[in-house]
Amino acid sequence: MSRVKDKNLAPQGRLKIEWAVDHMPVLSAIEAEFSKDKPLKGIRVGFALHVTKETAVLVNTLKAAGAEVAIASCNPLSTQDDVAASLAKDGVEVFAWRGENTKEYYENIASVLDSKPHITVDDGGDLVFMVHKERTDLIKGIKGGCEETTTGVIRLRAMEKDGVLKYPVFATNDADTKHMFDNHYGTGQSSLDGVLRATNILFAGKTVVVAGYGWCGRGIAARARGMGSHVIVTEVDPILALRAAMDGFTVKSMDDAAPLGDAFITATGNVDVITERHFKKMKAGAVLANAGHFNNEVSIPDLEKLAKSKKEMRPNVERYELQGGRHIYLLAEGRLVNLAAAEGHPSEVMDMSFANQALAVRYIAEHKMKPGVHEIPRDIDERVARMKIASMGITIDGLSDRQKKYLSSWDEGT
Ligand code: ADE
Repeated sequence: MSRVKDKNLAPQGRLKIEWAVDHMPVLSAIEAEFSKDKPLKGIRVGFALHVTKETAVLVNTLKAAGAEVAIASCNPLSTQDDVAASLAKDGVEVFAWRGENTKEYYENIASVLDSKPHITVDDGGDLVFMVHKERTDLIKGIKGGCEETTTGVIRLRAMEKDGVLKYPVFATNDADTKHMFDNHYGTGQSSLDGVLRATNILFAGKTVVVAGYGWCGRGIAARARGMGSHVIVTEVDPILALRAAMDGFTVKSMDDAAPLGDAFITATGNVDVITERHFKKMKAGAVLANAGHFNNEVSIPDLEKLAKSKKEMRPNVERYELQGGRHIYLLAEGRLVNLAAAEGHPSEVMDMSFANQALAVRYIAEHKMKPGVHEIPRDIDERVARMKIASMGITIDGLSDRQKKYLSSWDEGT
C-alpha cells in the first residue's frame, strides 16, 4: 500500500507528468519501443530517486516495458506530492512525501526493499547501502543496479575498493550524455532557479561564491555570470582551480571569499565546506544555498551553535541571527536547493539522464554482469546523444571512408 501526502493531488500531478512527457522526446521514444518489446516483463524495479515529474516519466517507461515499480525518495525535501499521488493512483507503490523525517525516510527506503526488487535505481546509493547493511538476504535476487549521481558513484567505488559491493551497478552518472548535460546545464540552471524562487534576489551586480568547479560548479558559475553576477570560485583541486581562473573567474580560498559573497552556492560533494570561521566573516544578509547531494556542505551544526535565534522568513528561507547584530539566510535547510526550493533540473535535460537509466535497466535485465561498478556501454551513450540531437532537429556530418581510413592509420602526414 502506497504512502503519500494526499491522494487527491493526483489530477494536478498527472498534468505535471504530461508536461514532462512533452519535453522528454528521447525517453518517450524509448517508452514506445519498450511497450512493443516488453523487455522487463516479470522484473521488479526498486527506486530511491527524487519523486519529480521527470522521474514519473522514467517510472512509466519501465512500467510500459512490463516492470513492476516501487519508489521512495532519495531526499526528504524533494518529493513533488502531486506527482507522488498520481503515480500511486496509477498502480506504482509509492512511499514518499515532502518533509519526511529521518526515521520516515529510511522506513520508506525499507518499504521499497520489501518489494524484493530485481533491479535497484538509486540517486545517492541509499538502496544499495541498505541492501548491503541490513537486507543481505535480497542480494541473491538482485540482478543489478543503476546510480544517478556523482556522490553515489564515489561511494560505490569506495565499496568496490573495499571488496564489499556484492552486485553489479551502472555508474549512470558517468555517461557523457548524463554528466556533461544534467550536471552542467541542469544543475547550473535549476540551482539558480531554486535560489530565485526562494528569495527573488537580483543576481546582477551581486558577488556569488561558487564552491567546487566540477561539472555542477561550472554550470552554476557560468549561469550566475550570465545573470550579471561577479563570480568567485573556491576549489581544492589545483587543476580545476586553474580551469576556473582561465575561464575568467576569480579564484579564492573560502576564508578570503567569505567576507565578499552576497550569495554562496556549494557544489563540492564534500562535507564542511562552509563552517563556523566562515560564517563569522560573512556580510549581513548573505544567502547560503547548497546544490550538492547531502545537507552537510554548509555546516548547519556550526550555524545553529553560532546563532542566537532563527526564524522562517519565507518558504525555504531561514534567517539566523548571529552575535553582533548580523544575520545570514540559509535556504532549504541546506538541502539540494534546486529540488527543495524549485522543481529540479528541467525535463529536457532529465530526458537524457533517464534515457540512459531506462536503457541501463534493460541491459541489466538482459545480461549477466559481474559484481562491481560498471560504465554505461558506449553504444547506449551515443544512441542517447543521437536521439537527442535528432529530436532537436539537428543534422550532423558522418565520416567518409577516406576519413575513417585516415583516423585508423599512422603513416599519413605532411
Ligand atoms: N535530479 C535533479 N533534477 C531532477 C529531476 N527533475 N528529477 C529527478 N531527479 C533530479
